Amino acid sequence: MTIFEHPLIQHKISILRDKNTGTNEFRKLVEEIAMLEGFEALGDLPLQDVEIETPIEKCMTPMISGRKLAIVPILRAGLGMVPGVLALVPSAKVGHIGMYRDEESHIPHEYYCKLPNPIDERIIVVTDPMLATGGSAVDAITQIKEHGGKKIKFMCIIAAPEGVQKLHEAHPDVQIYVGHLDRELNENAYICPGLGDAGDRIFGTK
Ligand code: URA
Repeated sequence: MTIFEHPLIQHKISILRDKNTGTNEFRKLVEEIAMLEGFEALGDLPLQDVEIETPIEKCMTPMISGRKLAIVPILRAGLGMVPGVLALVPSAKVGHIGMYRDEESHIPHEYYCKLPNPIDERIIVVTDPMLATGGSAVDAITQIKEHGGKKIKFMCIIAAPEGVQKLHEAHPDVQIYVGHLDRELNENAYICPGLGDAGDRIFGTK
């Protein structure tokens, strides 16, 4: 697991946590944090040499192959992180996985899955701002693997220790990137201190 210690990320997460932060600012901050995290998490993107003509001469110079990246947000809160990662790699493909949590049991169920095809050659960044019980992340990544996904990264903003452990146990090959590791889950499976319901705060619902 990689925890981002960068002061800019920590500062922005603190503003996200504030219950008085409104939807517009919340959404922008989620985007910015995703971009800052993505910058680090994509440090191993493959480069390929391409020929460029500078005003002086032709040269071979490395460029990222955007076709090699897929971003897969877990609906719906994961959507909020997509623009931040796309700002870094505009030509990335975007898949979607829809999971909802049973209000009583907190067990995740999948209701939608549409992924770039083929996906096996791509680096896949799964986004969800909150890694709580880990149930949705584990199931989403299982789905992606069933579709052929191999090199998978999971990027969140806040994680609970329970979620990190569950995800790591189920998918030890998946690199987990976390903005801040919080204390624990409460009895309703919310992260403490957390920031509340990330989807509701991004989309202004409730
Ligand atoms: N999902 C959220 O949006 N917030 C939590 O605290 C846990 C899961």
